[in-house]
Amino acid sequence: MNIPADVRAQAQDLLDFIDASPSPWHAVQTCESRLTTAGFSRLDEGERWTLATGGRHFVVRGGSSIIAFIVGSQPAATTGLRLIGAHTDSPGLRLKPKPANDAGGMVRLGVEVYGGPILATFADRDLSLAGRVNVRTPGGFTTHLIRFDEPLLRLPNLAIHMNREVNENGLKFNKQTELPLLLGVSEDGTKAEARFRQPIADRLGVKADDLLTWELNAYDTQKGALWGVDREFVANSQLDNLASCHAALSALLATSRPDATCLCAFFDHEEVGSESATGAGGSFIGDVISRLAASAGLDGEDQRRMLARSFFISADMAHGWHPNFPAAYEPCHHALVNAGPVIKHNANQRYSTSAETAARFMAICAKAGVPCQQYAHRTDLGCGSTIGPIVAARLGIPSVDVGSPMWAMHSIRESAGVLDHGYMIAALSATLNG
Ligand code: CO
Repeated sequence: MNIPADVRAQAQDLLDFIDASPSPWHAVQTCESRLTTAGFSRLDEGERWTLATGGRHFVVRGGSSIIAFIVGSQPAATTGLRLIGAHTDSPGLRLKPKPANDAGGMVRLGVEVYGGPILATFADRDLSLAGRVNVRTPGGFTTHLIRFDEPLLRLPNLAIHMNREVNENGLKFNKQTELPLLLGVSEDGTKAEARFRQPIADRLGVKADDLLTWELNAYDTQKGALWGVDREFVANSQLDNLASCHAALSALLATSRPDATCLCAFFDHEEVGSESATGAGGSFIGDVISRLAASAGLDGEDQRRMLARSFFISADMAHGWHPNFPAAYEPCHHALVNAGPVIKHNANQRYSTSAETAARFMAICAKAGVPCQQYAHRTDLGCGSTIGPIVAARLGIPSVDVGSPMWAMHSIRESAGVLDHGYMIAALSATLNG
């Protein structure tokens, strides 16, 4: 399989992007630093905005959602907006507010299941902690991003000698009793809580008693890898959906002086339904669009003209054909890995695609010289959803759901195609540069 050098570089850049982003807060920080390097400036939602033609800006809400945009050179009421959305969160294990407990001489950390991970894949991995911590200060508190690079935690499997049917029945964990993560051996005279707090306090250079609250997830410390006989695949955690964030961000960074205003919106909380102040179901994207319109002097009439002429691409990963499980797929709708972006269809509007928006995306791909595929889930299986229908409903604009095909969605180690990532960047660049 012939893979151009620039496409290989894009795939490696994706792996680096994910390795730098072990939590949604880190993912936003990674985006921020790339945007800042490229000349985008940060806007504060609490300040007045002044936006000029060609202006390159980004806004962060709640630390885990980010919208970046370039103000177009032509009137927004006639060009409309070009929007791409994706999500920063991934399913997994999140620490509880008071996670540490002593269990027969071992310190364990209690976790909550966030979204719908394949729990069995978290076993026997070199896990660690990443997220953010709030620390008491004389004036109140400060928020710190934190990540431990070394493996701190583990969910050891039960030996097959004690779980004889594991290969017949699958690996199952009781979420309450069997998922707590092992942190260390209990020490005489040291409370389990202190064993948990001290490394965080040491890392931040603060007192353990001053740690107030945290949002910390377990993450896999294994770095991303290329695999396959021609190294034509990528493997990493969080490909769903940091691969789409990376593709959209790469497309935006490659866009200069667009005629229409281009926005990329990466939201937290997709994996738990998007209904939050930072999620796609919240006001974030609508608020940013209103302020763009106000800054351009658009009245109510022109704002509606702008929305009517806009187009939204919801970019989220798709299910690639797995030859070992042919019965899991709808006939004639096999999306092959490394065969191009997938347009996702669902008549029940779990995806926002219509025949018209699908045709529009096909035309974009044709213009970009990118192959594309169509996917529908088996009728007797419930399919997932995306931010597509939510954003389309809130804004009332035409929308299409697309994504690169991948294997093992919601495993802690997912995989996808190197060529597909290059194709997706090219298709999204063609969208923004319309
Ligand atoms: Co997703």
